[in-house]
Amino acid sequence: MENKRGSWASNIGFLMAAIGSAVGLGNIWGFPYKMGKCGGFSFLIVYLLLAIFVGMIIMASELALGRKTRKSPIAAYQAVSKKYSWLGWLAVIAPFLIMTFYSVLGGYCIYYIAINLGGLFSGNMPDSSSFGAMLTSIPVSIGILVAFMVICMLIVAGGVSGGIEKFNKIGMPALAVMLVIIIIKSWTLPNAGEGLKFMFVPGYAVKGGFIDQSPDFISILGTAGGQMFFSLSLAMGAMITYGSYLDKGENLVKNSVIIVVSDTLVALMAGLAVIPAAVANGINSGKAVSEIKLNGPNLLFSTLQDVFHDMGRVGGLFGIIFYLLVLIAAISSAISLMEVLTAHFIDKAHEQGKEADRKKVTLIVSAVITLVGLLVAADGLGSNGFSPAEIFHSANVKGWNDCWLDFMDTWSEGIAMPVGAMLMGIMIGGELGPDFILDEIHSGEKSSGFDKFYKICVTYVVPVVMCFVLAGQMKDFFGNSAASYIIAIVILVIFAAWTYLTKKKAAK
Ligand code: PHE
Repeated sequence: MENKRGSWASNIGFLMAAIGSAVGLGNIWGFPYKMGKCGGFSFLIVYLLLAIFVGMIIMASELALGRKTRKSPIAAYQAVSKKYSWLGWLAVIAPFLIMTFYSVLGGYCIYYIAINLGGLFSGNMPDSSSFGAMLTSIPVSIGILVAFMVICMLIVAGGVSGGIEKFNKIGMPALAVMLVIIIIKSWTLPNAGEGLKFMFVPGYAVKGGFIDQSPDFISILGTAGGQMFFSLSLAMGAMITYGSYLDKGENLVKNSVIIVVSDTLVALMAGLAVIPAAVANGINSGKAVSEIKLNGPNLLFSTLQDVFHDMGRVGGLFGIIFYLLVLIAAISSAISLMEVLTAHFIDKAHEQGKEADRKKVTLIVSAVITLVGLLVAADGLGSNGFSPAEIFHSANVKGWNDCWLDFMDTWSEGIAMPVGAMLMGIMIGGELGPDFILDEIHSGEKSSGFDKFYKICVTYVVPVVMCFVLAGQMKDFFGNSAASYIIAIVILVIFAAWTYLTKKKAAK
């Protein structure tokens, strides 16, 4: 039986859930394209370095913070820090914003499973025109959003081990098998090699004619850093919450390494499945490489649907397998975001001496997400005339010049995430001291060689790297890189000075 707050039934169950949170839409459409665009293997190396020196460190810190306090993010930050108690709010608002568009994209997967099923039976395979048709039909977009939210709600209402863990223990292995099937199919298409070159050969994206210009090193750092954080579900409260259900005896460093490695492997596998198929089919149907859309929602919902269309009836089968695997990836991430919000209200009630009913809390959380999600769904990626760009007439300010989906994404992934991670580094390095977290990581056992590495990374590497990531993300925001650097560095310096100087004073 679960206790009132919930806990994982086993470490492997926890790992499946944490990997499920990490593996999501970010892996499937973000990683492969960004890798190609940013120089193939060179991007992979930057990504891996960031994952080891920053991602792994924050992963272990979040799990430790959750387990030490046994609380969801807001209460966890309040329990450990005077100066940064408010940071927990960022780790709750950001997942809410992400959910408002993640749920819409999850709904799209349900729609695509349905139309491929239709194609399989009727022999009349849908093509990329389905995307526009879906986006401009407001009732359809809303219906699939609601369907996705109901599935997630039922899982989260089932509890930590009874719902979330159970789903992931079946879902994650199933996802891996389906991914392998799609990779095999994808590689046997003629011209698939061009896609592999796009992904892995440095500079090929430009040489092969996929894009005009390679990005500079700072943009690569910003892109890789942003991608890494989003993909590993960091600075979103998710890992703090999942860590709070973890047994004291489990090894946090080992678990963090497993999560980071698995997430990266799945991202690479997703690339091996998706990019060769999209490129091969584009070339085979006579398109110029520069016309093949390899980025954003278009890749998944129009470019790939054309691939399945061109396979004829059997494409229906591969389409179902593919969109089902994307749907599982989306659900397993969405439930971790919802659990952040659900756990918050359950803990809050507990603080007031009451017991919250998990089912009721999940219902309310789901309803509020769906309400705001309606706006994103009905907007249809800006197809229906009421996106921020249309309302605010602001041509050049990112976040305001786009559709509602990009608007939500800019504030959550673009701003809240790097700021949250940077400040977490300063809080641990400057206010709490790394030993505070290391004690929990070792939970009573003696320290290891990891400690030195952790101390240097969390105190220096994390804040500085996140400052660059923030600047990289803000560059699009202001369309001006000098201003972005100045703002990011000013934020870093102000918070670091505030934290370290006031600490010295107190020590005197
Ligand atoms: N990691 C998920 C993905 O790659 C997204 C996510 C971010 C999930 C933050 C939970 C928390 O799609």
